[in-house]
Amino acid sequence: MGFKKQVFLLLLLSVVTGTRVSAQTWVVPDDQKAVVAPMKFTPDMQKQGEQVYLKNCQSCHGLPGKDNWAKLTPPPGDLAKEKAQKQTDGEIFYRITTGKIPMPEFRNIIPEDDRWAVIAFLRSFNPKYVQPAPKALAAFTGRSVTLEMQYSDPMKKIVVTAHEKLKDNSNVPAAGIEVLLSVKRYFGSLQVGEMRTTNARGEATFEFPADLPGNNTGNVDLTARVNDPKSQMKTTPATGTFAIGVPTDRPGLTETRAWWSTRGNAPIWLLLTYTLSVIIVWGIIIYIVSSILKIKKLSTHG
Ligand code: HEC
Repeated sequence: MGFKKQVFLLLLLSVVTGTRVSAQTWVVPDDQKAVVAPMKFTPDMQKQGEQVYLKNCQSCHGLPGKDNWAKLTPPPGDLAKEKAQKQTDGEIFYRITTGKIPMPEFRNIIPEDDRWAVIAFLRSFNPKYVQPAPKALAAFTGRSVTLEMQYSDPMKKIVVTAHEKLKDNSNVPAAGIEVLLSVKRYFGSLQVGEMRTTNARGEATFEFPADLPGNNTGNVDLTARVNDPKSQMKTTPATGTFAIGVPTDRPGLTETRAWWSTRGNAPIWLLLTYTLSVIIVWGIIIYIVSSILKIKKLSTHG
């Protein structure tokens, strides 16, 4: 085997094994850092927060103070430790609300009060913590907005309709609501197109990219939600499954032999390729070492 080929193989292997997913930093806007809880943290709230934590957070972050978080990239870390505890309540609240892959966005999963309760629970592991004076979220408008989603076949568009519930319980179309559309992927979700604002009829229309992969029958799971980063409204997202994607023959995450799955489920070709490259590399190493030894022998005997 030529020297160039060997170098090429070694390079290839180091690229394959050396590739790492680089972690992005997770910055919280200053005005969100300054947010304080609207209520006083009480022992009852901590108990409630513990339940919320066990149900929603423990699987990744482990038990607070026990350093037994799941080995993920980036590492979730122990939330009782300094890295998390030195953050403001507003900062932690923002992170729980918005999430960051692989951490889910809890905006529509955990109600606001429970998100604060989790923080109250986490603070109970920090003897130095003193709660800042509670302040009602001045921004909360009390509006309640519900989204609905439809696929318009002739237009090949997703139409999201926003309705607002008024004090007298009537429903009216809500104009000026910012809507984000996302499609479910294996990990988290992917935003589709730009953010849209609802018109006077409460409608926001999204064009669906023609080349978006769906499952094997072309189905895609869509979620439309209100862009409301400051939690000024009570919002209900809309979800729907539509056969508008490109049928893609890709096995699901939990199905057998997906290459990102655990080793027992890895596809055979991948295992073979991997084993083969290991053998080849060892072969090259042994070949080089033996050549060096041969040269040495020749020079000492020659
Ligand atoms: C699917 C796994 C997963 C779940 C479930 C999860 N998280 Fe996370 N969380 C992560 C990961 C991973 C990070 C690190 C993200 C980063 O640093 O980019 C993280 C980071 C955080 C941070 C920032 C920590 C720091 O040191 O800066 C906080 C706070 C947090 N999570 C709170 C929670 C809470 C509270 C819950 C439950 C309501 C929760 N997480 C549920 C995976 C998860």
